[in-house]
Amino acid sequence: MEKLAETTYPIEELLRRRWSPRAFADRPVEAEKLLSLWEAARWSASTANQQPWYFIVATKENEVEHARLLSCLRENNQQWASRAPVLMVSVAKLTFDANGQPNRHAFHDVGLAVANLITQATALGLYVHQMAGFYPDRVRELYGVPDGFEPVAGIVLGYLGDPTILPEDLQQREVAPRVRRPIESFVFQGVWGETSPLVAPH
Ligand SMILES: Cc1cc2nc3c(=O)[nH]c(=O)nc-3n(C[C@H](O)[C@H](O)[C@H](O)COP(=O)(O)O)c2cc1C
Repeated sequence: MEKLAETTYPIEELLRRRWSPRAFADRPVEAEKLLSLWEAARWSASTANQQPWYFIVATKENEVEHARLLSCLRENNQQWASRAPVLMVSVAKLTFDANGQPNRHAFHDVGLAVANLITQATALGLYVHQMAGFYPDRVRELYGVPDGFEPVAGIVLGYLGDPTILPEDLQQREVAPRVRRPIESFVFQGVWGETSPLVAPH
C-alpha cells in the first residue's frame, strides 16, 4: 500500500514514499539489507564527528531476543510491533569523547542517523516505524546501557503487511490520509512567528 506524500512543492521520490506503517509482513529482512541500513546511518553528519549513535537490535530469527526487545516497548506499541521482523532501540552517547562535556546535539545527531537509515530502508523497499512509546529504564537495565548513554527511540522495520491483520481501530489509522502543517506555519523571518516572505503565499 502506497501512501505517497501529497506535496505542495516537488521533493525526492524516496522522501515521498516513506511512511510509518503498523502492519508488517511475515517476511524476514535480508542480513545484507540490514548492513546497508547501518552503513547509511554511519555516514550521517554529526557534531564534531562524534557519531553518538548506537543501536540495540533483535530479529525474529532469534525469538528470545526478539521477545526481550519487544518487552521494552509500551503495550500499545507491542500490540502491532510484535509482527515486525526487526526491532531496534537507538541510543545516544551524551558526552564528547575528548573531554566528557555534555553534547547537547547528541539526540539531534541520533535522529539524523536514523533519518539516513530510513531513507536507505525506503530505497530497499523496507518500511520503518519509530516509537517514543518504550521504556528507556527497562532498556538500560536489560542491556546494561552505561551511564552517559540514553535510549532515544524504539524502531521497528520490515516489509509492508496487509492492513487487515490489524485490529479495527489501527486499520483505520493505517489507511488514513497523511496530514501535515503548511510550510508557512514553521518558517519565520525577522521575528518569531512571522512567516518568511520566502514561503508566504504569492
Ligand atoms: C520519535 C518518534 C516517536 C514516535 N512514537 C510513536 C509511538 O510510540 N507509537 C506509534 O504508533 N507511532 C509513533 N511515531 C510515529 C508517528 O506517529 C508518525 O511518524 C507520524 O504520525 C507521521 O506519520 P508518517 O511517519 O506515516 O508520515 C513516532 C515517530 C517518531 C519520529
